[in-house]
Amino acid sequence: MAKPPLRIAIAGLGTVGAGVVRLLRRNAELLAQRGGRELVIAAVSARDRGRDRGIELAGPRWFADAAALAADPAIDIVVELIGGADGIARSVVETALAHGKPVVTANKALMARHGTALARLADAKGATLAFEAAVAGGIPIVKTLREGLAANSFARIYGILNGTCNYILTTMRESGRDFAEILAEAQRLGYAEADPSFDIDGIDAAHKLAILSSVAFGSEVDFAGVHVEGIRHISALDIEFAGELDYHIKLLGLARLTERGIEQRVHACMVPRAAPIAHVEGVFNAIVAEGDFAGRVLLEGRGAGAEPTASAVVADLLDIAAGRRTPAFVVPAAALRKIPASPMLHHQGAYYVRLMVFDRPGVIADITAALRDELVSLESMIQRGRAPGEAVPVVLTTHITEEAAMRRALDRIGALDTVLEPPRMIRIEDL
Ligand SMILES: NC(=O)c1ccc[n+]([C@@H]2O[C@H](COP(=O)([O-])OP(=O)(O)OC[C@H]3O[C@@H](n4cnc5c(N)ncnc54)[C@H](OP(=O)(O)O)[C@@H]3O)[C@@H](O)[C@H]2O)c1
Repeated sequence: MAKPPLRIAIAGLGTVGAGVVRLLRRNAELLAQRGGRELVIAAVSARDRGRDRGIELAGPRWFADAAALAADPAIDIVVELIGGADGIARSVVETALAHGKPVVTANKALMARHGTALARLADAKGATLAFEAAVAGGIPIVKTLREGLAANSFARIYGILNGTCNYILTTMRESGRDFAEILAEAQRLGYAEADPSFDIDGIDAAHKLAILSSVAFGSEVDFAGVHVEGIRHISALDIEFAGELDYHIKLLGLARLTERGIEQRVHACMVPRAAPIAHVEGVFNAIVAEGDFAGRVLLEGRGAGAEPTASAVVADLLDIAAGRRTPAFVVPAAALRKIPASPMLHHQGAYYVRLMVFDRPGVIADITAALRDELVSLESMIQRGRAPGEAVPVVLTTHITEEAAMRRALDRIGALDTVLEPPRMIRIEDL
C-alpha cells in the first residue's frame, strides 16, 4: 500500500521559505517518486499574512504562531526557515522535536549555538534533525561527509563558507579597488545585507565551520571555540602584493584536529594560486574534506540564495519521507566527543606581514632584529620603490612559526617609531 502523504509545515516564508514552496510544487511528481510518497505543504507561518511572496498560499493552513504550528498533531514534519539562534526559531525547533516530529532547518546560527542540545533532544524523542541547508546552501557537504565519505577519518576540513566575502575579495582582486567601495557595490547588487557585519566579520562562516567540524570529527558543536576574524582590514595593496607572491586572498574556515584539541579558525588567508580553491570565485562557496582513504575531495557550488538553499532543504525532506534516519551529527548525540579548542596562540603557520615604514637607513635592520629576537624566521622581503624620508610599504613572509611568537614580533615591530601603521598580518595556508 502506498504511504500516506507527508504533511509538511513551513515556518518562515522569506527568501528560503518561498524557494522551498516553489520547489515542492514545481518538482512535486519527481519528489513523490523519489521519496516514495507525496510531499504536501499542510501549514505555513510567517509574520505578515498580507505580504506578497510571489507564491500561492490558499491551500495550506496559516498559523500566526509558529510554535503552535510545530505542535499541531496534523503535521508530520516541521521546516524551520525563520532564522536566529534563539527566540521563535529555537522554540519552533524545540517544540517540534519535543513532540517527536522530524525537523529540517537552514538555521546555521541556531545549530552552531545549540546544535548539541538539539541533537540530544532529537535522539531522546527518536526524531530526525536535519540541517544540510545550514552549511554552504546548495552544496551537499553534510550528506557527503555522512554518507559518501563515511568510511574516512578526517584530518582537516576547510572551505570558502561565505559568498559575500568571496564576492568582495574576488572583485577587489579583479578591479584593484578598495574594500569599502566594493562592499557598497555588493549591497546595491543584493550580494551583501544592509548590515553586513555577520558576513564580513566572519560570524556567518564561523557558524558553518562549527557545524562542519562536528559532522567531520564527531565532536560537540563548539562555536565559542572558533577563532574569528573578518575581512574589513584587507586593502587593495594587500591584494596586489598577494598577486605578486602568487597567492589569492580568501576568507576561509578551517578546522583541524591537533594534539591539543580542535583548531577552528575563520580569517583571511593567503591561498597558493595553484590550489583549486583559489579559483573558486564570486559568490560561490567550496569545501575541501581531507579523508584518510579518499584523499582530498572538493565540492563547489552556490552557498546561498532561494533555489540552492531550497534544494538542500528538500533533499533532507526526501530522506525523511523515504524513512532514512541518521543522527544529526552522524553519531548519536551521547557519543559526540567533548574535544577542547586548541588555542590560536599555538597555531603553527607561515605569515604575510605588510608594514608602512619611513624609508630611512636602519629600518629593515630593526624589523629583522625584532623577528630574530622572537625566533621568527624570514622567508622573503619586498620593499617596493625608494622614497627617502617618505612612507613605503614593506612586505615580508615567514617560515612556519608559532602564532604567539609572530604576535610578539609584530608588537615589537609596531612599536618602532619608523613603522607608521599597525602591521597587517595575513596567514599563509598550505593547501
Ligand atoms: N537566504 C539564504 O540564501 C540562506 C542560505 C542558507 C541558509 N539560510 C538560513 O535560512 C533561514 C531563513 O533565511 P531567509 O534568508 O529566508 O530569511 P528571511 O528572508 O528574512 O525570511 C525569514 C522569514 O521568517 C519569518 N518570520 C520572522 N519572524 C517570525 C515569527 N515570529 N513567526 C513566524 N515567521 C516569522 C518572516 O516573516 P515575514 O516574511 O512575514 O516577515 C520571513 O518570512 C535563516 O536561518 C538563514 O540563516 C538562508
